[in-house]
Amino acid sequence: MKSILITGCSSGFGLETAKYFLERGWRVIATMRTPDDNVIPPTSNLQLLKLDVADQSSIAQAIADAGDIDVLVNNAGIGWLNALEGTPIDIIRRIFETNTFGTMAMIQAVLPQFRARKSGTIINVTSTVTLRPLPLLSVYTASKAAVNAFTESFALELEPFNIKVKLVLPGLAPETRFGENARALSPGALEFPEPYAPLGQAVIAGLMGAHEEFTRPLDVAEAIWRAATDDAVPTRLPAGADAVTWSKQV
Ligand SMILES: NC(=O)c1ccc[n+]([C@@H]2O[C@H](COP(=O)([O-])OP(=O)(O)OC[C@H]3O[C@@H](n4cnc5c(N)ncnc54)[C@H](OP(=O)(O)O)[C@@H]3O)[C@@H](O)[C@H]2O)c1
Repeated sequence: MKSILITGCSSGFGLETAKYFLERGWRVIATMRTPDDNVIPPTSNLQLLKLDVADQSSIAQAIADAGDIDVLVNNAGIGWLNALEGTPIDIIRRIFETNTFGTMAMIQAVLPQFRARKSGTIINVTSTVTLRPLPLLSVYTASKAAVNAFTESFALELEPFNIKVKLVLPGLAPETRFGENARALSPGALEFPEPYAPLGQAVIAGLMGAHEEFTRPLDVAEAIWRAATDDAVPTRLPAGADAVTWSKQV
């Protein structure tokens, strides 16, 4: 039985992906910062583990408890919408600690077993915001674009060990807890510095407006499934109707 470890399974894409792989007979190690038995219906193939990707000891414990895995999905992530001048440096550090360094630390933790077995797949969830510049998303985009660049370079050093590396790029997904979690990062999350207020309001109006195309959690679960099960798919996989459209425009 194949096994997959997914970070950030308490909601959104991670939760949907955990259910998707369970339904298809995989052993799923669903990890959460605060494990909750009520989030995913318990089955014999499900292992629920505590994992904070910004905490090295938490990573070591989760990897030890998970045993051998075939696929690692780095999905845990936090968002942020504000001007650089409206973003305290400690928030920037937190975003990179989770989105960028957390991804690298998880990979470092699984590589010894993947290398020893000469098999394994690493899937990093980034974002289509990395495909074109967008105002007020500079810090978040930087944290995800770094993962794109890192992934495509280090994929080359893993080729001799038969370890596959993929990127899944979702589009805008209003159905997850992403926006709510970003707002909870700081009491001043959506307080734009006064000179940026008109731009902030315009960007928010655009995000809240009707979108002909957007991304559903199921789109991301399906893309992760393809990345995990089909070695022939390209390194970058857009996930969601808007993501597919955007990726064709670059
Ligand atoms: N929604 C979008 O529009 C969108 C678009 C493109 C890409 N993405 C990316 O897709 C991924 C999933 O986002 P989502 O939309 O599903 O949002 P979500 O519902 O907020 O899910 C994010 C998950 O990450 C977890 N998490 C945050 N910090 C963590 C940490 N330090 N250690 C472990 N887990 C942590 C959260 O856990 P807690 O419950 O403990 O906070 C939550 O389970 C993220 O990487 C995000 O950047 C989202």
